[in-house]
Amino acid sequence: MMEQLESVRKQFLTDLESFPETPQEIDELRSKYLGRKGQVSALFALLGKATPEERPTLGKDLNILKQDLTNQFEEKVASVSASQQSAEDDAIDLTLPGKTPRIGSVHILEQTLSEIKDIFKSIGYHVAYGPEVDDDYHNFSALNIPEHHPARDMQDTFFVDPTTVLRTHTSNVQIHLMENEDPPIRYIVPGRVYRNEAIGYKSYCLFHQVEGIYINEKVSFAELKGCLEYFVRQMFGLNKKMRFRPSYFPFTEPSAEVDLWDDERHQWMEILGCGMVDPAVLDTVGYDSKKWHGYAFGMGVERIAMLKYKINDIRLFYNGDVRFLEQFS
Ligand code: PHE
Repeated sequence: MMEQLESVRKQFLTDLESFPETPQEIDELRSKYLGRKGQVSALFALLGKATPEERPTLGKDLNILKQDLTNQFEEKVASVSASQQSAEDDAIDLTLPGKTPRIGSVHILEQTLSEIKDIFKSIGYHVAYGPEVDDDYHNFSALNIPEHHPARDMQDTFFVDPTTVLRTHTSNVQIHLMENEDPPIRYIVPGRVYRNEAIGYKSYCLFHQVEGIYINEKVSFAELKGCLEYFVRQMFGLNKKMRFRPSYFPFTEPSAEVDLWDDERHQWMEILGCGMVDPAVLDTVGYDSKKWHGYAFGMGVERIAMLKYKINDIRLFYNGDVRFLEQFS
Protein backbone atom coordinates (compact mmCIF):
# COMPACT_ATOMS: atom_id res chain seq x y z
CA MET A 1 0.00 0.00 0.00
CA MET A 2 2.78 2.36 1.00
CA GLU A 3 4.61 1.53 -2.23
CA GLN A 4 1.51 2.23 -4.29
CA LEU A 5 1.25 5.62 -2.63
CA GLU A 6 4.85 6.43 -3.43
CA SER A 7 4.54 5.28 -7.03
CA VAL A 8 1.50 7.50 -7.56
CA ARG A 9 3.51 10.42 -6.22
CA LYS A 10 6.45 9.66 -8.45
CA GLN A 11 4.30 9.25 -11.53
CA PHE A 12 2.54 12.47 -10.69
CA LEU A 13 5.82 14.35 -10.43
CA THR A 14 7.04 13.11 -13.82
CA ASP A 15 3.73 14.01 -15.40
CA LEU A 16 3.78 17.44 -13.88
CA GLU A 17 7.33 18.01 -15.06
CA SER A 18 6.76 17.04 -18.66
CA PHE A 19 3.17 17.33 -19.59
CA PRO A 20 1.03 20.37 -18.82
CA GLU A 21 1.45 23.60 -20.75
CA THR A 22 -2.01 25.03 -21.01
CA PRO A 23 -4.76 25.41 -18.40
CA GLN A 24 -6.73 22.64 -20.18
CA GLU A 25 -3.84 20.20 -19.94
CA ILE A 26 -3.41 20.99 -16.26
CA ASP A 27 -7.10 20.32 -15.71
CA GLU A 28 -6.82 16.96 -17.42
CA LEU A 29 -3.93 16.06 -15.21
CA ARG A 30 -5.81 17.25 -12.16
CA SER A 31 -8.69 14.93 -12.82
CA LYS A 32 -6.32 12.05 -13.56
CA TYR A 33 -4.99 12.30 -10.00
CA LEU A 34 -7.47 14.24 -7.93
CA GLY A 35 -10.75 13.64 -9.75
CA ARG A 36 -13.56 11.47 -8.41
CA LYS A 37 -12.22 8.56 -10.41
CA GLY A 38 -8.62 9.67 -10.09
CA GLN A 39 -5.66 7.80 -8.66
CA VAL A 40 -5.82 9.38 -5.20
CA SER A 41 -9.48 8.41 -4.81
CA ALA A 42 -8.51 4.91 -5.84
CA LEU A 43 -5.96 4.80 -3.03
CA PHE A 44 -8.56 6.02 -0.54
CA ALA A 45 -10.78 3.15 -1.70
CA LEU A 46 -8.00 0.70 -0.84
CA LEU A 47 -7.90 2.05 2.72
CA GLY A 48 -10.71 -0.35 3.63
CA LYS A 49 -8.45 -3.31 2.87
CA ALA A 50 -5.64 -2.17 5.15
CA THR A 51 -5.22 -3.67 8.59
CA PRO A 52 -6.67 -1.68 11.50
CA GLU A 53 -3.09 -0.96 12.71
CA GLU A 54 -1.93 0.43 9.38
CA ARG A 55 -5.08 2.42 8.68
CA PRO A 56 -4.46 5.63 10.76
CA THR A 57 -0.92 6.30 9.39
CA LEU A 58 -1.95 5.31 5.94
CA GLY A 59 -4.96 7.64 6.09
CA LYS A 60 -2.75 10.44 7.32
CA ASP A 61 -0.22 9.84 4.53
CA LEU A 62 -2.95 9.77 1.95
CA ASN A 63 -4.34 13.10 3.15
CA ILE A 64 -0.84 14.58 3.01
CA LEU A 65 -0.41 13.25 -0.52
CA LYS A 66 -3.74 14.75 -1.59
CA GLN A 67 -2.86 18.13 -0.08
CA ASP A 68 0.57 17.98 -1.65
CA LEU A 69 -0.73 17.31 -5.15
CA THR A 70 -3.36 20.02 -4.80
CA ASN A 71 -0.72 22.58 -3.81
CA GLN A 72 1.56 21.65 -6.65
CA PHE A 73 -1.30 22.03 -9.12
CA GLU A 74 -2.07 25.50 -7.87
CA GLU A 75 1.56 26.47 -8.25
CA LYS A 76 1.72 25.06 -11.73
CA VAL A 77 -1.44 26.92 -12.78
CA ALA A 78 -0.02 30.17 -11.44
CA SER A 79 3.34 29.74 -13.18
CA VAL A 80 1.79 28.78 -16.53
CA SER A 81 -0.49 31.81 -16.61
CA ALA A 82 2.39 34.07 -15.52
CA SER A 83 4.61 32.83 -18.32
CA GLN A 84 1.80 33.33 -20.85
CA GLN A 85 1.44 36.86 -19.63
CA SER A 86 5.13 37.56 -20.00
CA ALA A 87 5.10 36.07 -23.52
CA GLU A 88 2.38 38.56 -24.38
CA ASP A 89 4.42 41.35 -22.87
CA ASP A 90 7.42 40.31 -24.95
CA ALA A 91 5.27 40.59 -28.09
CA ILE A 92 5.54 44.37 -27.86
CA ASP A 93 8.95 45.17 -29.25
CA LEU A 94 9.65 48.76 -28.37
CA THR A 95 12.75 48.84 -30.55
CA LEU A 96 10.79 48.29 -33.78
CA PRO A 97 10.61 51.32 -36.08
CA GLY A 98 7.20 53.04 -36.08
CA LYS A 99 4.65 52.58 -38.84
CA THR A 100 4.79 55.40 -41.37
CA PRO A 101 1.30 56.86 -41.71
CA ARG A 102 -0.06 56.84 -45.27
CA ILE A 103 -0.25 60.35 -46.57
CA GLY A 104 -3.21 61.12 -48.83
CA SER A 105 -2.91 63.26 -51.91
CA VAL A 106 -5.11 65.36 -54.15
CA HIS A 107 -6.99 63.13 -56.62
CA ILE A 108 -5.76 63.49 -60.19
CA LEU A 109 -9.18 64.73 -61.30
CA GLU A 110 -9.12 67.46 -58.71
CA GLN A 111 -5.58 68.39 -59.80
CA THR A 112 -6.73 68.60 -63.42
CA LEU A 113 -9.70 70.70 -62.39
CA SER A 114 -7.42 73.13 -60.57
CA GLU A 115 -5.25 73.52 -63.65
CA ILE A 116 -8.33 74.20 -65.80
CA LYS A 117 -9.68 76.73 -63.31
CA ASP A 118 -6.33 78.54 -63.09
CA ILE A 119 -6.11 78.90 -66.86
CA PHE A 120 -9.59 80.40 -67.16
CA LYS A 121 -9.22 82.58 -64.09
CA SER A 122 -6.09 84.06 -65.65
CA ILE A 123 -8.19 85.32 -68.58
CA GLY A 124 -11.00 86.87 -66.60
CA TYR A 125 -13.42 84.07 -65.80
CA HIS A 126 -15.13 83.76 -62.42
CA VAL A 127 -15.87 80.35 -60.96
CA ALA A 128 -19.49 79.46 -60.12
CA TYR A 129 -21.32 76.32 -59.06
CA GLY A 130 -24.85 75.05 -59.48
CA PRO A 131 -27.18 72.19 -58.52
CA GLU A 132 -26.49 68.58 -59.49
CA VAL A 133 -30.13 67.68 -58.93
CA ASP A 134 -32.23 70.04 -60.97
CA ASP A 135 -35.58 70.42 -62.62
CA ASP A 136 -36.41 69.52 -66.15
CA TYR A 137 -36.70 73.21 -66.98
CA HIS A 138 -33.08 74.15 -66.22
CA ASN A 139 -31.51 70.98 -67.56
CA PHE A 140 -33.60 70.84 -70.76
CA SER A 141 -36.47 73.20 -71.61
CA ALA A 142 -34.73 76.51 -70.99
CA LEU A 143 -31.82 75.22 -73.08
CA ASN A 144 -34.09 74.88 -76.05
CA ILE A 145 -34.28 71.10 -75.75
CA PRO A 146 -37.87 70.31 -76.69
CA GLU A 147 -40.06 67.84 -74.84
CA HIS A 148 -39.44 64.90 -77.15
CA HIS A 149 -35.76 65.45 -77.88
CA PRO A 150 -33.79 62.19 -77.62
CA ALA A 151 -31.49 63.74 -74.99
CA ARG A 152 -34.42 63.54 -72.59
CA ASP A 153 -34.89 59.88 -73.24
CA MET A 154 -34.76 57.56 -70.24
CA GLN A 155 -31.59 56.02 -71.68
CA ASP A 156 -29.56 59.16 -71.15
CA THR A 157 -31.06 60.68 -68.06
CA PHE A 158 -31.35 59.57 -64.47
CA PHE A 159 -34.73 60.81 -63.29
CA VAL A 160 -35.33 61.47 -59.60
CA ASP A 161 -39.03 61.96 -60.32
CA PRO A 162 -40.85 62.82 -63.57
CA THR A 163 -39.74 66.47 -63.49
CA THR A 164 -36.46 66.23 -61.54
CA VAL A 165 -33.19 64.91 -62.96
CA LEU A 166 -29.57 64.33 -62.06
CA ARG A 167 -28.16 66.94 -64.41
CA THR A 168 -26.86 65.48 -67.65
CA HIS A 169 -24.51 68.42 -68.21
CA THR A 170 -23.36 71.57 -66.44
CA SER A 171 -25.28 73.68 -68.98
CA ASN A 172 -28.14 73.92 -66.46
CA VAL A 173 -25.98 76.44 -64.60
CA GLN A 174 -25.87 78.71 -67.66
CA ILE A 175 -29.58 79.25 -67.05
CA HIS A 176 -29.23 79.77 -63.28
CA LEU A 177 -26.46 82.32 -63.80
CA MET A 178 -28.34 84.30 -66.43
CA GLU A 179 -31.52 84.24 -64.34
CA ASN A 180 -29.66 85.72 -61.39
CA GLU A 181 -27.38 88.25 -63.02
CA ASP A 182 -27.57 90.89 -65.71
CA PRO A 183 -25.08 90.78 -68.59
CA PRO A 184 -22.20 91.02 -69.22
CA ILE A 185 -21.14 87.78 -67.50
CA ARG A 186 -18.12 85.51 -67.78
CA TYR A 187 -18.07 82.27 -65.79
CA ILE A 188 -16.74 78.77 -65.70
CA VAL A 189 -18.75 76.15 -63.82
CA PRO A 190 -17.06 72.93 -62.74
CA GLY A 191 -19.20 70.06 -61.54
CA ARG A 192 -20.41 66.52 -61.67
CA VAL A 193 -22.83 65.31 -64.30
CA TYR A 194 -24.66 62.01 -64.70
CA ARG A 195 -25.62 59.94 -67.72
CA ASN A 196 -27.41 56.67 -67.93
CA GLU A 197 -25.40 55.37 -70.87
CA ALA A 198 -23.17 52.47 -71.82
CA ILE A 199 -19.96 52.36 -69.77
CA GLY A 200 -16.67 52.00 -71.64
CA TYR A 201 -13.06 53.19 -71.53
CA LYS A 202 -14.09 56.81 -72.21
CA SER A 203 -17.66 56.91 -70.84
CA TYR A 204 -18.91 56.48 -67.31
CA CYS A 205 -22.30 56.99 -65.65
CA LEU A 206 -20.94 60.04 -63.86
CA PHE A 207 -18.19 62.40 -64.87
CA HIS A 208 -17.11 66.02 -64.54
CA GLN A 209 -17.55 68.95 -66.83
CA VAL A 210 -16.41 72.53 -66.83
CA GLU A 211 -19.00 74.76 -68.41
CA GLY A 212 -18.01 78.17 -69.75
CA ILE A 213 -20.29 81.05 -70.56
CA TYR A 214 -19.44 84.52 -71.79
CA ILE A 215 -22.14 87.06 -72.64
CA ASN A 216 -21.39 90.58 -73.82
CA GLU A 217 -22.48 93.12 -76.40
CA LYS A 218 -20.15 91.98 -79.12
CA VAL A 219 -18.94 88.43 -78.98
CA SER A 220 -17.74 86.50 -82.01
CA PHE A 221 -17.17 82.87 -82.89
CA ALA A 222 -13.53 83.83 -83.54
CA GLU A 223 -13.22 84.83 -79.89
CA LEU A 224 -14.65 81.49 -78.84
CA LYS A 225 -12.08 79.70 -80.99
CA GLY A 226 -9.30 81.90 -79.66
CA CYS A 227 -10.30 81.28 -76.07
CA LEU A 228 -10.46 77.50 -76.44
CA GLU A 229 -7.24 77.34 -78.41
CA TYR A 230 -5.55 79.38 -75.70
CA PHE A 231 -6.85 76.90 -73.13
CA VAL A 232 -5.55 73.87 -75.04
CA ARG A 233 -2.14 75.51 -75.56
CA GLN A 234 -1.84 76.29 -71.86
CA MET A 235 -2.98 72.84 -70.83
CA PHE A 236 -1.16 70.68 -73.39
CA GLY A 237 1.55 72.84 -74.93
CA LEU A 238 1.96 74.38 -78.38
CA ASN A 239 2.32 71.12 -80.28
CA LYS A 240 -0.91 69.40 -79.28
CA LYS A 241 -2.94 68.58 -82.36
CA MET A 242 -6.47 69.96 -82.06
CA ARG A 243 -9.39 70.52 -84.40
CA PHE A 244 -12.76 72.25 -84.39
CA ARG A 245 -15.50 70.16 -85.96
CA PRO A 246 -18.99 71.47 -86.83
CA SER A 247 -21.64 69.98 -84.54
CA TYR A 248 -25.12 70.54 -83.22
CA PHE A 249 -26.51 71.49 -79.81
CA PRO A 250 -30.04 72.81 -79.32
CA PHE A 251 -28.74 75.69 -77.17
CA THR A 252 -25.94 76.99 -79.42
CA GLU A 253 -25.94 78.12 -83.05
CA PRO A 254 -23.57 77.60 -84.74
CA SER A 255 -22.11 74.73 -82.72
CA ALA A 256 -18.81 72.89 -82.78
CA GLU A 257 -16.85 70.23 -80.98
CA VAL A 258 -13.15 70.19 -80.22
CA ASP A 259 -11.12 67.02 -80.61
CA LEU A 260 -7.58 66.43 -79.43
CA TRP A 261 -5.20 63.89 -80.86
CA ASP A 262 -4.84 60.87 -78.61
CA ASP A 263 -1.16 59.94 -78.93
CA GLU A 264 -1.73 56.56 -77.28
CA ARG A 265 -4.63 55.34 -79.39
CA HIS A 266 -3.68 57.30 -82.53
CA GLN A 267 -7.13 58.75 -83.01
CA TRP A 268 -9.10 61.89 -82.23
CA MET A 269 -10.81 62.21 -78.86
CA GLU A 270 -13.64 64.65 -78.33
CA ILE A 271 -13.10 66.85 -75.28
CA LEU A 272 -15.75 69.55 -75.51
CA GLY A 273 -18.83 70.97 -77.16
CA CYS A 274 -19.28 74.69 -77.78
CA GLY A 275 -21.01 77.33 -79.81
CA MET A 276 -22.65 80.74 -79.88
CA VAL A 277 -25.50 80.91 -77.35
CA ASP A 278 -28.76 80.48 -79.24
CA PRO A 279 -30.85 83.69 -79.16
CA ALA A 280 -33.83 81.56 -78.04
CA VAL A 281 -31.94 80.78 -74.82
CA LEU A 282 -31.14 84.44 -74.23
CA ASP A 283 -34.79 85.35 -74.70
CA THR A 284 -35.88 82.61 -72.30
CA VAL A 285 -33.79 84.08 -69.46
CA GLY A 286 -34.90 87.62 -70.29
CA TYR A 287 -31.71 88.88 -71.93
CA ASP A 288 -32.31 91.07 -74.97
CA SER A 289 -30.98 88.85 -77.74
CA LYS A 290 -30.68 91.83 -80.12
CA LYS A 291 -28.24 93.50 -77.78
CA TRP A 292 -26.42 90.60 -76.10
CA HIS A 293 -24.46 87.77 -77.64
CA GLY A 294 -22.29 85.12 -76.22
CA TYR A 295 -20.60 81.81 -76.44
CA ALA A 296 -20.65 78.75 -74.25
CA PHE A 297 -18.67 75.55 -73.98
CA GLY A 298 -18.72 72.41 -71.90
CA MET A 299 -15.63 70.25 -71.53
CA GLY A 300 -15.11 66.78 -70.10
CA VAL A 301 -12.56 66.85 -67.27
CA GLU A 302 -11.87 63.10 -67.27
CA ARG A 303 -11.06 63.04 -70.97
CA ILE A 304 -8.70 66.00 -70.58
CA ALA A 305 -6.95 64.23 -67.70
CA MET A 306 -6.81 60.99 -69.71
CA LEU A 307 -5.08 62.72 -72.60
CA LYS A 308 -2.75 64.77 -70.48
CA TYR A 309 -1.69 62.01 -68.09
CA LYS A 310 -1.99 59.03 -70.48
CA ILE A 311 -4.73 57.30 -68.49
CA ASN A 312 -6.33 54.72 -70.72
CA ASP A 313 -9.58 53.99 -68.90
CA ILE A 314 -12.04 56.44 -67.34
CA ARG A 315 -13.07 53.86 -64.72
CA LEU A 316 -9.66 54.19 -63.06
CA PHE A 317 -10.74 57.57 -61.69
CA TYR A 318 -13.48 55.97 -59.64
CA ASN A 319 -12.33 52.65 -58.27
CA GLY A 320 -10.05 54.10 -55.58
CA ASP A 321 -7.07 51.84 -56.33
CA VAL A 322 -4.12 53.38 -54.46
CA ARG A 323 -1.66 51.94 -56.99
CA PHE A 324 -3.30 54.21 -59.55
CA LEU A 325 -3.79 57.19 -57.25
CA GLU A 326 -0.23 57.14 -55.90
CA GLN A 327 1.18 57.72 -59.38
CA PHE A 328 -0.12 61.26 -59.22
CA SER A 329 0.76 62.21 -55.67
N1 PHE B 1 -23.69 70.53 -72.68
C1 PHE B 1 -23.00 69.98 -73.82
C2 PHE B 1 -22.69 68.50 -73.53
O1 PHE B 1 -22.75 68.10 -72.41
C3 PHE B 1 -21.71 70.71 -74.11
C4 PHE B 1 -21.93 72.15 -74.50
C5 PHE B 1 -21.90 73.13 -73.56
C6 PHE B 1 -22.15 72.47 -75.82
C7 PHE B 1 -22.07 74.45 -73.92
C8 PHE B 1 -22.34 73.78 -76.19
C9 PHE B 1 -22.28 74.74 -75.24
O2 PHE B 1 -22.38 67.75 -74.42
